Amino acid sequence: MLPSTERLLLGPGPSLIAPRVMRALGAPMLSHLDPDFVVIMDDLRARLERICRAPEGSFAFAMSGTGTSGMEVAVSNLVQPGTRVLSIVSGYFGDRLAQMSVRYGGEVEKVAVDWGRAVDPDAVRTMLGKTRAEVVTVVHAETSTGVLNPLEAIATVAREHDALVLVDAVTSLGGHPLDADGWGLDAVYSCSQKCLGSPSGLSPVLFGPLALERLVPCRGFYFDLELLEDYWLKRKYHHTMSASLIYALSEALTIVEEEGLEARWARHERHHRAFAAGLEAMGLSLLPPEGERLWTLNAIRVPEGIDDAAVRKHLLTKHNMEIGAGLGPLAGKIFRVGLMGASSTPELVTACLTALEDALAAQGFRAPAGAGAAAATAALA
Ligand SMILES: Cc1ncc(COP(=O)(O)O)c(C=O)c1O
Repeated sequence: MLPSTERLLLGPGPSLIAPRVMRALGAPMLSHLDPDFVVIMDDLRARLERICRAPEGSFAFAMSGTGTSGMEVAVSNLVQPGTRVLSIVSGYFGDRLAQMSVRYGGEVEKVAVDWGRAVDPDAVRTMLGKTRAEVVTVVHAETSTGVLNPLEAIATVAREHDALVLVDAVTSLGGHPLDADGWGLDAVYSCSQKCLGSPSGLSPVLFGPLALERLVPCRGFYFDLELLEDYWLKRKYHHTMSASLIYALSEALTIVEEEGLEARWARHERHHRAFAAGLEAMGLSLLPPEGERLWTLNAIRVPEGIDDAAVRKHLLTKHNMEIGAGLGPLAGKIFRVGLMGASSTPELVTACLTALEDALAAQGFRAPAGAGAAAATAALA
């Protein structure tokens, strides 16, 4: 049984996929060590290095699995029993990184940040001074709260203390500026299904030269970076990589490079700002303050007395549109609207505002008719 309609994917991911990328999935099957396939793998590694702005001597590849698999590769190769880790926890995914570091035996201290706010780099500096952590974990774009953490400043502070910077760029890579070389990021992982515009199932991963020098023995087999390097670089069998997913990600990265990274970041910013202007005109507000907001994921406060599940159901059934719910302590309190990759278009910005107006009206929240779409259109002009 297959779906019969194209859902408008405006949740926290997956996002919409360009027809070119869907077609790439159907390219002829190759085995994971076919000479033609390894050429595609090499090309993909080079593209990932460019998109992450990787320093010389990095190793970039795509891990089989979703974003969480990239998280596990990064943690399991840099954290071993006794490793001192400082985890910045400003939401659900920062907490997942901290939990994973504990599972791998790390002595984890946290910088806890109110959900909906970005971390203050000075708080990181203070904690680093106290804990002498060897690894700092940080979520660049915290999808659970819609907050952008000041990654460059955090990396600078970590470098002052000679700590490695382990970065979750699942909701930022391809949508927000990220410069592994310029900012001094040591390990970065992302996902295929958000700003990069491919199906889920692969996790781009980058290890910089310092991280490669400081690898710890990995307890896992599937996540062992040395074995993964042997596969990607020396063509030694490790696991049967999905060729179709690699084709799709390659095509998606080709689109990213055709658009140009800066242009793509600017597109995400422009559409976020138009969407935010529309929300304001409707009497709605975003959870994070101006200056700490993601362009890729909008965390909208659910108006007082409105049942968020009923609104999301209305959008799905009447408008064929998916948006996300709040996670953890924000369940029922926010909607999460993703404008990422192929889902970040002017048409979808206005369509979402119009549909939201209708869905909220059905629950008794009356925004001025057409005000959201009009404000967004004006902002886009
Ligand atoms: C910031 C962040 N990190 C990690 C993950 C986990 O990724 P996945 O669900 O692809 O495993 C997500 C998923 O949305 C995320 O938003």
